Amino acid sequence: MTDISTKPVADLTAAEAEAELARLAEEIAGHDRRYYQQDDPLVSDAAYDELRRRNLAIEALFPNLKRADSPSERVGAAPVGRFGKVVHKVPMLSLDNAFADDDVIEFLARVRRFLRLAADAPLAITAEPKIDGLSCSIRYENGRLVTAATRGDGYEGENVTQNIRMVPDVPDTLPKDAPEVVEVRGEIFMLHEDFQALNRRLAEDGLKTIANPRSGAAGSLRQIDAAVTASRPLHFFAYTWGEMSALPAETQSGMVKLFAAWGFPVNPRMRVCRTVGEALEFYREEEAGRATLGYDIDGVVYKVDRLDLQARLGFVSRSPRWAIAHKFAAEQAQTFLRGIDIQVGRTGSLTPVARLEPITVGGVVVTNATLHNEDYIKGIGSDGEPIREGKDLRIGDTVTVQRAGDVIPQIVDVDLARRPADARPYVFPTVCPVCGSHAVRDINPKTGRPDAVRRCTGGLICAAQVVEKLKHFCSRNAFDIEGLGDKQIDAFHAEGLITSPADIFTLKARDAAAAEGSRLIDREGYGEVSVRNLFAAIDARRSIPLHRFIYALGIRHIGETNARLLARSYGTYEAIEAALVAAAKGDADALDDLDAINGIGETVAQALVDFYGEEHNLAAVHALLAEITVEPAEAVASSSPVSGKTVVFTGALERMTRDEAKAMAERLGAKVAGSVSKKTDILVAGPGAGSKLKEAGKHGVTVIDEAGWFDLIGG
Ligand code: IVH
Repeated sequence: MTDISTKPVADLTAAEAEAELARLAEEIAGHDRRYYQQDDPLVSDAAYDELRRRNLAIEALFPNLKRADSPSERVGAAPVGRFGKVVHKVPMLSLDNAFADDDVIEFLARVRRFLRLAADAPLAITAEPKIDGLSCSIRYENGRLVTAATRGDGYEGENVTQNIRMVPDVPDTLPKDAPEVVEVRGEIFMLHEDFQALNRRLAEDGLKTIANPRSGAAGSLRQIDAAVTASRPLHFFAYTWGEMSALPAETQSGMVKLFAAWGFPVNPRMRVCRTVGEALEFYREEEAGRATLGYDIDGVVYKVDRLDLQARLGFVSRSPRWAIAHKFAAEQAQTFLRGIDIQVGRTGSLTPVARLEPITVGGVVVTNATLHNEDYIKGIGSDGEPIREGKDLRIGDTVTVQRAGDVIPQIVDVDLARRPADARPYVFPTVCPVCGSHAVRDINPKTGRPDAVRRCTGGLICAAQVVEKLKHFCSRNAFDIEGLGDKQIDAFHAEGLITSPADIFTLKARDAAAAEGSRLIDREGYGEVSVRNLFAAIDARRSIPLHRFIYALGIRHIGETNARLLARSYGTYEAIEAALVAAAKGDADALDDLDAINGIGETVAQALVDFYGEEHNLAAVHALLAEITVEPAEAVASSSPVSGKTVVFTGALERMTRDEAKAMAERLGAKVAGSVSKKTDILVAGPGAGSKLKEAGKHGVTVIDEAGWFDLIGG
């Protein structure tokens, strides 16, 4: 049977065209989901565009076969598939940070020095909350909203015009007195209550929940289907601007007032301060009140109020001299340590977790904190040095909990004066609390000291390890099976429905053969549609790229980077397995080959050898391979002239698109970076290259043009 997916459109029969349109609708929708909802595309833009082009071409030949859910209908007003790019006429820059009062005092002193103002000359500054969302630039021409773009790299962002139109806070038109060209910039964000409601909905649907309101706002704005954006309540505060054909006010505060008059929400908390004392007072008020705002802020922003002074101050590198962000310190609060639970991870690690009396830290209720390992509980850091002045943690203790941004809360201090008289030092278990196997601290061969982590030696007899391995297997960067989230895996495992990865792929057949009354559809929470969707999601993963497959196996130390390295170096799963089984049997050549992979060190090599030395691991992999296909990786030339080099592409390229350039460089073993740093080896600069070229000059990076690139790689 020939594969119709590669058959020229002109040669397709009507039946084939119909099947092909169905396949394309499903595949494109799948890619869209990954790109827009998960920010994790599987294919290059070029490959994606090719799918859309094929879909359009078939529809042109067989118009009566066009599907109701055709991808060509789904993009709404966006002309081609994914978001286009928007070049910011005025770059969207970032802000310099101040962490202490002194930094703010120094900022104002610097401004005065630069402007040659006396220390006591009046200098008004605005102070306002720094919103933890994503910035967006909205352009109006002749009073009409024409484009909206995300910040992107500051110079080029994504075109989110259709989506911004769905945000009720953003007006579609401006009053007649507004200048001809207006670019209003501000922050898109999500309220805490809306974020929590969204997560509840996602959890109910068995989908992954979102980490924080900022990701919620970013994910919601970057939806291919603007109707989805419309269903997610987003808010906007206007606080600055980009290109303006005229500046209708003389001060920052005056501009913001105008924005409000034009219909934009502006932060009502903004204040004009006359002295540094007033500014710092504002900071303290905001820090104290941040938990009651209903949205996340991570500091305050001060800006020189007079626009003529802003213009004179200008910019240094990527931030204005006339503004600074005064960040809040990590937040702390005191509470009780109610208990210590031990979680068993997928590699058997025993991780202690503090169960705390619930406490609000910076607007977020904290009930757990990580305790890392047994030394940490004892007051010993990973370097063997004391932490918390060496104070250990005991159940019943009054502890100080710290939360900084998205980082997992930590216990940073213990109040010994409030320790209950009967509190005993915590005794860390030496057997696995789940399977009862011994839990040991291996001796690190390099340091001769015991590992920080105690591990269960139960392997696959340990239910906790098995379940965690299954969760990893189904997780987003592994098999990414929608509808098989942590909750479902816990339940399916507990009932013995899924105890190994292969079981996932035999579930459908087993379910069909199961007795009436004990099928999936008979379970609470499952209906015909959800069961069908689950099986479809599983079937969609019967073919998987090699690097994802390797990563999904959950071998110790094999994260995504190492998985990609192995995939690129060996090309096929068969080659990997043959080499590693040989290495595990002590084959010197195979071991040498493994060592020769740039980036694979001794520890990783040992972990691979350990995994492939175990018969039961091989059996589990082979059972899985009976159900699925692993796609080979494109081989990479390790001896190419750019192998191991870090390359940046900038400016216009003529012989290849950016995506092609990136893919080509990666195929040749190079790393492609988005910005120039001292780690960059080569900058490939086409016409129109700007700031990156300058940066390259600063760091002494080799700069070549597109022709030079092809000369270099011999193309
Ligand atoms: S003014 C020239 N004001 O902070 C830059 N930025 O770290 C003008 N942000 O990318 C930015 N709240 O996304 C400004 N009230 C505020 C802000 C704010 C949040 C973000 C913005 C910017 C980032 C800089």
